[in-house]
Amino acid sequence: MARILITSALPYINGIKHLGNLVGSQLPADLYARYMRGRGHEVMFICATDEHGTPAELAAAKTGEAVDAYCARMHEVQADLARGFRLSFDHYGRSSSARNRALTQHFAGKLAENGFIEEHSEKQVYSIADGRFLPDRYIEGTCPNCGYERARGDQCENCTKQLDPTDLINPRSAISGSTDLEVRETKHLYLRQSLLKDEIDTWIDGQSDWPILTTSIAKKWLHDGDGLQDRGITRDLHWGVPVKKGDAEWPGMEGKVFYVWFDAPIEYIGATAEWADATGKSDKDWERWWRSDKGAEDVRYVQFMGKDNVPFHTLSFPATIMGSREPWKLVDYIKSFNYLNYDGGQFSTSQGRGVFMDQALSILPPDYWRWWLLSHAPESSDSEFTWENFQASVNKDLADVLGNFVSRITKFCRSKYGEVVPEGGETGERAAALVVELETRVRAYETHMEAMEVRKAAAELRAIWAAGNEYLQSAAPWTVVKTEPERAAAMVRLSLNLVRLYAVLSEPFIPDAAAMMLEAMGTADRSWPGDVAAALETLPAGHAFTTPDNLFRKITDEEREDWEKRFSGIRS
Ligand code: MF3
Ligand code: ZN
Repeated sequence: MARILITSALPYINGIKHLGNLVGSQLPADLYARYMRGRGHEVMFICATDEHGTPAELAAAKTGEAVDAYCARMHEVQADLARGFRLSFDHYGRSSSARNRALTQHFAGKLAENGFIEEHSEKQVYSIADGRFLPDRYIEGTCPNCGYERARGDQCENCTKQLDPTDLINPRSAISGSTDLEVRETKHLYLRQSLLKDEIDTWIDGQSDWPILTTSIAKKWLHDGDGLQDRGITRDLHWGVPVKKGDAEWPGMEGKVFYVWFDAPIEYIGATAEWADATGKSDKDWERWWRSDKGAEDVRYVQFMGKDNVPFHTLSFPATIMGSREPWKLVDYIKSFNYLNYDGGQFSTSQGRGVFMDQALSILPPDYWRWWLLSHAPESSDSEFTWENFQASVNKDLADVLGNFVSRITKFCRSKYGEVVPEGGETGERAAALVVELETRVRAYETHMEAMEVRKAAAELRAIWAAGNEYLQSAAPWTVVKTEPERAAAMVRLSLNLVRLYAVLSEPFIPDAAAMMLEAMGTADRSWPGDVAAALETLPAGHAFTTPDNLFRKITDEEREDWEKRFSGIRS
């Protein structure tokens, strides 16, 4: 059975992420990790905070903290929220770790050894008003590709093109707005990605099963326009991985650090090494996930990310890996997402528009959000959060269908038979038809989960819940019990077993509710239903259970209206 390595794009350290960020990488990655564990695979699920670069420096300057203290604090904040959303990372690392520093310097050394690094003197934008060189992100201007007027020096948000600051038309400092910019001479390292163009092209051509969204973005940047250009991988900043060639100094590069997009993806590896350190494991234990010469041949590596991250993961990071000429694992599958919009516009961090991770958890438990976000994941196109839709999904899918089913059957059983699975009887034709339907639906659910078709998987799960609810409604053991008590007992036994089955199937989406269902059913048996009929005989007659509290509560109209106002971005 293949081992599965899963990484989610690393969230920037500065600020708390909104629900659009969450559903664009970490949450679907968690869904997949939980599913694969449930199917018995050995899984390594890795994430980390992306801590280097100017945004962190500036955010720290704003709060008056030293940048390392700021990052340490914000890492804890984000780790706490990740736990709050039940993101089941095996390790949540930090790109500023000693492991990542060493690995980044190692890769740079190898790339240099293999002729993939070029040093050159470069003209860089210096802002006289700000008294500093301006990092890419802090130069704004018009995109030469699409004309968007607020493109950043590293990437155009509008057309996703990767840029160099000098490409921008009408550049200005994003710090002060000053256009009093000057170009000065300084030495930098370039990654000669162009030398790897054919290799990357062949590699991408070999990925016949990748989603169109992923390959089309990769192909576009490989072939359109300038193709795969060499990229500067060093910066004049203090906060970052110091430029070194392995362990050795790099003459002429004193005081410089690697560009954040060079060291960030290496942290996928770094965080796995941090996991080994944190759990008392050895280097061998993390290397077997990453090194094909050390056991990783049977690892399937899947990455999750938003579409703006795709060029870095299909071109730049693979160039780093390939250029090392060492047997590091390349990604096997990239699952990328479009954007989630918020109520007729965009989420906006600066305007406080939309729901952020901390706010979400302050008003409702994680399962409510997980269910809505995953069942509306922006897969084939952008999708939109509206409070009305959120209220409807929660009230219908979670409360009326799943919650109601669990509550109805456990309460009925308790009142008629006590809190034990009743014995005797045969269920009849309706139940037989249900089992046939579920058998088909469970296999479809597996297919969608394996293909990471998140919305389709959610729809199938919803249909699986609904089928049980409809069965119970039409079988009506509360009526049957009056004339055929044995048959009613068999219906109840089947339905209590459905609760367990639902817990197992639903765990990747709604882990807390799943845990409550299993606990109520008095079982820790999470075995996956290889055969639905057999799975529905797991809890035998005489098995004790407890009647759980309501799994989900409904969202009222008053709450919906209140929240709609509160998160509209007009902050008091
Ligand atoms: N921090 C980046 C973003 O939020 C993603 C980094 S992914 C990594 O867009 F691979 F580079 F780490
Ligand atoms: Zn553009």
